[in-house]
Amino acid sequence: MSDDWEVKILCMGAGYVGGPTMAVIAKQCPKIRVVVGDISQKQIDAWNTDKLPIYEPGLLDVVKESRGRNLFFSTDLDKEINEADIIFISVNTPTKTRGIGAGRAANIKNCELCARHIAKVATSDKIVVEKSTVPVRTAEAIQRILKANDNGYKFQVLSNPEFLAEGTAIKDLMKPDRVLIGGQQTPEGLKAAETLVSVYAHWVAREQILTTNLWSSELSKLVANAFLAQRVSSINSISALCEATGADVSEISRAVGMDDRIGKRFLQSSVGFGGSCFQKDILNLVYLCETYGLSACADYWKQVILMNDYQKKRFSEKIVSSMFNTVTGKKIAILGYAFKKDTGDVRETPSMFVVRDLLQEAAKIHIYDPEVSREEMWKEMDYTCGVNHENTPRLDESVITSEDAYKACEGAHAVCILTEWDEFKTLDYKKIYESMSKPAFLFDGRLIMDHKALRDIGFEVHAIGKPDPKKFSGV
Ligand code: NAD
Ligand code: UGA
Repeated sequence: MSDDWEVKILCMGAGYVGGPTMAVIAKQCPKIRVVVGDISQKQIDAWNTDKLPIYEPGLLDVVKESRGRNLFFSTDLDKEINEADIIFISVNTPTKTRGIGAGRAANIKNCELCARHIAKVATSDKIVVEKSTVPVRTAEAIQRILKANDNGYKFQVLSNPEFLAEGTAIKDLMKPDRVLIGGQQTPEGLKAAETLVSVYAHWVAREQILTTNLWSSELSKLVANAFLAQRVSSINSISALCEATGADVSEISRAVGMDDRIGKRFLQSSVGFGGSCFQKDILNLVYLCETYGLSACADYWKQVILMNDYQKKRFSEKIVSSMFNTVTGKKIAILGYAFKKDTGDVRETPSMFVVRDLLQEAAKIHIYDPEVSREEMWKEMDYTCGVNHENTPRLDESVITSEDAYKACEGAHAVCILTEWDEFKTLDYKKIYESMSKPAFLFDGRLIMDHKALRDIGFEVHAIGKPDPKKFSGV
C-alpha cells in the first residue's frame, strides 16, 4: 500500500490486548509496520524498555524480536494515524460507574474518542478495526462519528474481537482457535475484511479465520465470555452441594468433562472468577438484553454473576466460621493476589474480595504474590471495593505485603491459597506448619494442593467442593 511496507498498522491502546496482539502481528509479519500508540506516556515509555508494563510469559522475547525493526511504541498519535492504513482500537471499555446503565453498561467513551481523533487528523482512507470488546452495534456509532467528521476520506469499520486469555496470551495469539472478522456486507466492507484477513493469514490457516457480519462478530465476543464464565459458575454452584453431601467437585469435573459434548475445560472450581472481562462482559450482555426488552434473558445471565458473588462470599464466611467464628486480631496469610496465575493483573480478583471481608473482621492480613505490586493492589481495592487509606484507618498496619511466602505465613493462624501459582505447590509446608499458630488452618481456594499430605503434617484443611473428613468418614 505505501512505502516499502506491505501495510501500515496503528493500534490505539497499549494495554493487555494492544501490546501483545501487535507484538505477535509484528513478529509474524516482518514486512508490516506496526505501531502501538497510547495517550499514556508512562505506558509507552515502559513498552520501550525491558521492564514491560504488563507481565505475560514470553512477551518480552516477542517484543524484543521486532522492536525497532517493524514494531514501534509511540504517543505521537496524530502522526501515526496519518501514516496508518489499518487502525485498531484496543482501548479499555469498563463498566459504567455513573449515569444511565451504571453498574451494567460498558462505557465506550474511549472508543468514541479514538474515532473522533482518527476523523480529525486523517488525511487518507482508513480501515478502522474494533479490537476492544463492545456492545453489539457499536460499529454503527463509530461509523457515524467517522462519517460525520470525515473531511472527504473514506473509513471502513471492522469488528475483530480478541479472545486471548492473560497468562497464555502469546500462545493464544500464535495459535488462535479462530480469528473473527466482522464487516459490512457491501463490496467495500468485504474488501476491507479481506485486507485484514490477509494480515492474519501470514500465520493463521484460512479456515480458522471466520468472516461474519458486524453484529455477529461484536456479539460473539460477549457470548464467548458469558459461556466461559457460566461454566465456572455452574461448577462453583456444584462445589457448594459437594461440601454438603460428601461428593468431590474435582471428581465431578472429571466425570462430567469426559463427555465430549461437555468438554473438560473451564470446569475447575475456584474461589470465583475474576479478571477485567468476565463480569464486565456479562453485565454488558445483561444490559443489552434489558435494552431490547428481553428481561427473561437478562435475568438468566445475571445469575452467573450472582453465583460468582456467592462463591467469593462463601469462601470468606468459611474462613471465619471454621476459625471459631472470629478472626479478629489473627494473622491470616494470603498466598496469591492476581486473578489467575502467570499475570500481575488484579482487576476484579477474587482475592481482593476475600481480603476486604477479612479486613471487616479486623484480621491482620499478610499477602504474598510473585507479580502483584502493592500500588496496583490498593488502586484496584479503591476502584472496585471503595476501600482506601482515607476511609479505612490503619490500612497499612492491617494489610502487609510480603516479599516471601514463608514470611507471610510465619506465625499465621491460617493460610489461604487464592491464586493457583505453580510455586505454591512446591513450598515446604512442613516448615510453614511449624512456624504457624496452632491449630493451623489452610483454605485452598484453587484446589491445587495435596490435601492428604497437608493433613498428615497437621493442618486443618478446608477446600472448595471437597468433603470434610471430619464430617464424612471414609471418603
Ligand atoms: P488496558 O486498560 O490494559 O489498556 C487500554 C489502554 O488504552 C490503556 O493503556 C489506555 O491508556 C489506552 N487508551 C485509553 N484511551 C485511549 C485513547 N483515546 N487513545 C489511545 N489510547 C487510549 O485494557 P485491555 O485489558 O488491553 O483491554 C482492552 C479491550 O480489550 C477491552 O475492551 C477489553 O474488554 C478487551 N479484551 C481484554 C482482554 C484481556 O485479557 N485483558 C482480552 C480480550 C479482550
Ligand atoms: C478470558 C477468556 O478466557 C478470554 O478468551 C477472553 O479473551 C478474555 O477473558 C477477555 O475477554 O478478557 P482471562 O480473563 O484472561 O480470559 O482468563 P481466564 O483464563 O478465562 O480466567 C478468568 C477467571 O476464571 C480467572 O479468575 C480464573 O481463575 C477463573 N477460572 C477459569 C476458574 O475459576 N475456573 C476455570 O475452570 C477457568
